[in-house]
Amino acid sequence: MPNVNCLGICTGGGDAPGLNAVIRAAVKSAILKYKWKVIGIPDGFDGLIWPERSHELALKDVSGILPRGGTILGTTNRGNPFRYKTCENGQEVIRDISDQVIANQKKLGIDAIISIGGDGSMKIADELFRKGMQIVGVPKTIDNDLSATEVTFGFDTALHTATDAVDKIHTTAESHHRVMVVEVMGRDAGWIALGAGLAGGAHIILIPEIPFTLDKICQHLALRQRYGKRFTIIVVAEGIRLPTEMKHLSRTMAVGNMIGDAISLLAQKEVRISVLGHIQRGGSPSPYDRILGTRFGVAAVDLVAKGGFGKMVCLQKECIHAVTISEAAGKLKTVDPDGEVVRAARAIGISFGD
Ligand code: F6P
Repeated sequence: MPNVNCLGICTGGGDAPGLNAVIRAAVKSAILKYKWKVIGIPDGFDGLIWPERSHELALKDVSGILPRGGTILGTTNRGNPFRYKTCENGQEVIRDISDQVIANQKKLGIDAIISIGGDGSMKIADELFRKGMQIVGVPKTIDNDLSATEVTFGFDTALHTATDAVDKIHTTAESHHRVMVVEVMGRDAGWIALGAGLAGGAHIILIPEIPFTLDKICQHLALRQRYGKRFTIIVVAEGIRLPTEMKHLSRTMAVGNMIGDAISLLAQKEVRISVLGHIQRGGSPSPYDRILGTRFGVAAVDLVAKGGFGKMVCLQKECIHAVTISEAAGKLKTVDPDGEVVRAARAIGISFGD
């Protein structure tokens, strides 16, 4: 068993509802179960560049944070100690400051670190582990696109937010007989779009995993018109690949706007566009995300206690497990275009624009 007396915790990458639930659970179980000291490292691994910014986390510091969105530790999706961007003599240079980060961890007396983050943070955690850091990962992303875990916390809350938006769009779309485009997050995978589209009763769902054409979208609008349906809701994942006829356009605006403008022109319909953006990352975590975050936080502390360094906690068959970070990092979980969920959507008449 490793000799751990002091645990460091950091959150990296884009925030997700439930981060505070993980922090709270990890702090509580580290203190109550293992009697360790806990140090909060601010702003991901950037916090170890300036060790004086780190501070002890006592039980009182995590009191009341369970329903809070964001992260009490702060985060960044730019900080990578192996490729740290800095300015020297007016020039931007990239330096490997990982040795400094490891030295500062030791200076703070931290024996092991729990890194809560997405794929980028896991890659950094793996590199630090290979350099000797005793580190354990907790997966996070609203996109739910990490292959090693069935679900990441943050996804459920984001899905609720996106579904609520589609519900609200529904009534105004129907009243005005409009085509309404709702762009949701999902950089590489269409989980939020598929989920919110299904749960919100959308008529067309566009996701990165299924190539589509504007023609097919317009055909679907015409089909709905023939059925006497004068409004249509299109949920678009931000990560869609543009159809061939739009490939020449540069992505200077949100894809939701690009798709909406193109449809308006082609189908001669009144189109309105809502880009949900970071609203999906904010707000109070859902009960599911609070529970998953708590389970992950406790499991990560147990993993540290067992010496399971270089590993990441995950959810498999609804139970908490651990996989090596190297096995988990860089592997995306995308929507299966022929999977049961997509087939169910097609069966109830939803078009994927293909
Ligand atoms: O990975 C989570 C995510 O919310 C993506 O869905 C989105 O593309 C990205 O982060 C946005 O990042 P940023 O906060 O840097 O704009």
